[in-house]
Amino acid sequence: MAKLAYIGLGVMGFPMAGHLAARGGHEVTVYNRTAARAQAWVDKFGGRSAVTPARAAEGADIVFSCVGDDPDLRDITLGTSGAFEAMAKGSIFVDHTTASAKAARELAAEAKKRGIEFLDAPVSGGQSGAENGVLTVMAGGDAHAFERAKPVIAHYARAVTLMGPSGAGQLAKMVNQICVASVVQGLAEGINFGLKAGLDMGLVLEVITKGAATSWQMENRGKTMVEDKFDFGFAVDWMRKDLRICAETARETGADLTVTNMIDGFYAEIQKMNGGRWDTSSLIRRIRKV
Ligand SMILES: NC(=O)c1ccc[n+]([C@@H]2O[C@H](COP(=O)([O-])OP(=O)(O)OC[C@H]3O[C@@H](n4cnc5c(N)ncnc54)[C@H](OP(=O)(O)O)[C@@H]3O)[C@@H](O)[C@H]2O)c1
Repeated sequence: MAKLAYIGLGVMGFPMAGHLAARGGHEVTVYNRTAARAQAWVDKFGGRSAVTPARAAEGADIVFSCVGDDPDLRDITLGTSGAFEAMAKGSIFVDHTTASAKAARELAAEAKKRGIEFLDAPVSGGQSGAENGVLTVMAGGDAHAFERAKPVIAHYARAVTLMGPSGAGQLAKMVNQICVASVVQGLAEGINFGLKAGLDMGLVLEVITKGAATSWQMENRGKTMVEDKFDFGFAVDWMRKDLRICAETARETGADLTVTNMIDGFYAEIQKMNGGRWDTSSLIRRIRKV
């Protein structure tokens, strides 16, 4: 049994931390900015909650996090009562936030100065992947630290892979998000097309999910897109943050993101429709009049 800390009990962090306690049997101390959520976690899974990231991280072998964006990650690591100030030498910080590769490299360097290891370890698989403990984790950082953290991460993941040095996990996640954006837009256009043509889209999806057009998005979001349901999953606000990070990186590397940038503009329209917290499959709302 390891001593663990988990910072950030949102849609993703809450169930991930839960698996560490329930499946892993580890001793878990949690921190959440909004204290009621930490209390709800303790009520459900046992363990303890702490009042700051630093207090949660004290004495932990591994500290996990899943917060929002780069500034949030800097707050909980380097900010006042941040985790880094309390972590023991030789311990590991595993960050599951989707953040920039630049932030990952900076934090890895800051961690090294303190004798701590930092792994950027963004995830794919969404809310259901976190709840069912079947996420895909793509990590960047030191190979030895990765091997130590891997069996613990495996409590909520079905694939845990070291992609390369610090930042490589975040870069792999950017590739994932670029691919997801176009797939969701394609699905939105296909479903809207079928509905306008008067097809039974339940039946169409059942059939084409078994063919070449299938995707995670089609399997997991097709039905709810037809039903116009978006009150769950991966928030549009987070997708825009991810696509911003992709665009910033593409400017540095010279990669072409013509279609991805166009879809980012579509997501901006969804935000204007007050859909910032809707699931990313809500792209269909732009083109479908229900
Ligand atoms: N949802 C998905 O399907 C999914 C899939 C893959 C990756 N991700 C990524 O995972 C991360 C979390 O996503 P989520 O859906 O779990 O988000 P969420 O439900 O909005 O939760 C965000 C969590 O971060 C905490 N937080 C944010 N800023 C903070 C700060 N400055 N200081 C301390 N705590 C802070 C929030 O605390 P409060 O409770 O106080 O707000 C909350 O616990 C994001 O980077 C997202 O892009 C999400």
